[in-house]
Amino acid sequence: METEAVAAHEPQESAVATKKVFVKTYGCQMNVYDSQRMSDALAADGYTATESIDEADLVLLNTCHIREKAAEKVYSVLGRLRDMKAVRAREGREMMVGVTGCVAQAEGSEILRRSSAVDLVVGPQTYHRLPEVVRKARAGERIVETEYAIEDKFEHLPQPKRADVARRGVTAFLTVQEGCDKFCTFCVVPYTRGSEVSRPVAQIVTEAEKLAGAGVREVTLLGQNVNAWHGEGPDGTEWGLGRLLFRLAEIPGIARLRYTTSHPRDMDDELIAAHRDLEILMPYLHLPVQSGSDRILKAMNRQHQAAEYLKLLERIRSIRPDIAISGDFIVGFPGESDADFDDTMRLVEEVRYASAYSFKYSPRPGTPGAEMDGHVPEDVKDERLQRLQALLTRQQNEFAASLVGKSFQTLIEKRGRQDDQLVGRSPWLQPVIVDESAGGIGDIVNVRITRLGTNSLYGEAA
Ligand code: SAH
Ligand code: SF4
Ligand code: F3S
Repeated sequence: METEAVAAHEPQESAVATKKVFVKTYGCQMNVYDSQRMSDALAADGYTATESIDEADLVLLNTCHIREKAAEKVYSVLGRLRDMKAVRAREGREMMVGVTGCVAQAEGSEILRRSSAVDLVVGPQTYHRLPEVVRKARAGERIVETEYAIEDKFEHLPQPKRADVARRGVTAFLTVQEGCDKFCTFCVVPYTRGSEVSRPVAQIVTEAEKLAGAGVREVTLLGQNVNAWHGEGPDGTEWGLGRLLFRLAEIPGIARLRYTTSHPRDMDDELIAAHRDLEILMPYLHLPVQSGSDRILKAMNRQHQAAEYLKLLERIRSIRPDIAISGDFIVGFPGESDADFDDTMRLVEEVRYASAYSFKYSPRPGTPGAEMDGHVPEDVKDERLQRLQALLTRQQNEFAASLVGKSFQTLIEKRGRQDDQLVGRSPWLQPVIVDESAGGIGDIVNVRITRLGTNSLYGEAA
């Protein structure tokens, strides 16, 4: 096609929005951030983002490999895309399909082999090559790009325009660290995201300033091991995440900071002090422990014991009493006995979580856990998961109930489902529904909670 030949040589020209990209995001917040950055990068080549797959010229599946279900889902979606592609071909319309994210990294060319629908496969370390790969794929090549890159994957990509950022809302993710060197024996992340890389301070500050300039009020710093972030500060000394948070707190416009996900081993004194001294650092900490049994923690290679975790939480709570703790749990790791599981239940009872995610262990190819003896039968995993989730749900409800009658600062994020309602966010991440008279989007208002909704709180301006 004539227009395509032009587009290949003059990417800017085609920016007249002849092409649309649909990105479907699976997995964690880092994928959400990456999807946004990929759309930004493709915008320079004339792709506008669309919410409708029917009008897409390019479909990207930004995938997750963390559990078997997540990874297999990709192939059922690819099956549907193959059918869509065939219909499109009969209509003479092109639809390219790309797989990005952690399945792309883990399975590479295997994806091309398993699915004829796929034109390109790009792993998380190689997104800076995405625009080029898409151009090549349009010329008819099927490409797999999963090399580990040394450079910052987004550094050389065009930055989003301020107007585009402004349309996105008042909260934003900002990746500061990527990859993991911890090698928990159940986990694929060190293999799919590579080893730990921290972004430099100046880059993070610039991106945060840009977000603030576009009206973002709340920034969540992301990393697989975000509290392992470190870098050289402008003063020439080595900074940790705590120092970085103090620096970001100076940026005008930013009113709230969060970070996720942390590893218990990397909670250092300065980060804990930030929770005491930085008012804009929200009193919420996602600190996964996975199990309450020392035997299982050891087999998981978590590198700490249950008592150390509890002690750490005690310290954090003593300097920030209103902090809400959230966690992740795996039940049915190989060798987990009833007694080990009881240890997990006891730990949960002791911690009192404000929220938590829990999963059945899913053996992942290439991880040490998959090769271990003593795999737990599925029905035992089911039963344990049910018991754990019942307890965690009860704790979550108790935490929410404890907020009724209390007043706190709420960030108004968007319009509600009902016309006269707005939805805000509590310091502890719960949605807070208020009347539209409470304020405008981006405002931080004092709200008194009047009652509980199913997964939200109802409140009024106080
Ligand atoms: N970096 C984070 C976790 C990233 S993965 C940390 O260190 O905690 C998010 C969660 O998925 C993990 O905390 C774990 O609870 C769960 N998970 C990871 N691998 C899993 C597996 N093979 N089976 C079941 N759950 C898993
Ligand atoms: Fe996975 Fe463990 Fe690294 Fe978290 S710390 S990403 S669970 S290997
Ligand atoms: Fe999934 Fe990769 Fe995130 S495996 S959880 S998308 S780091």
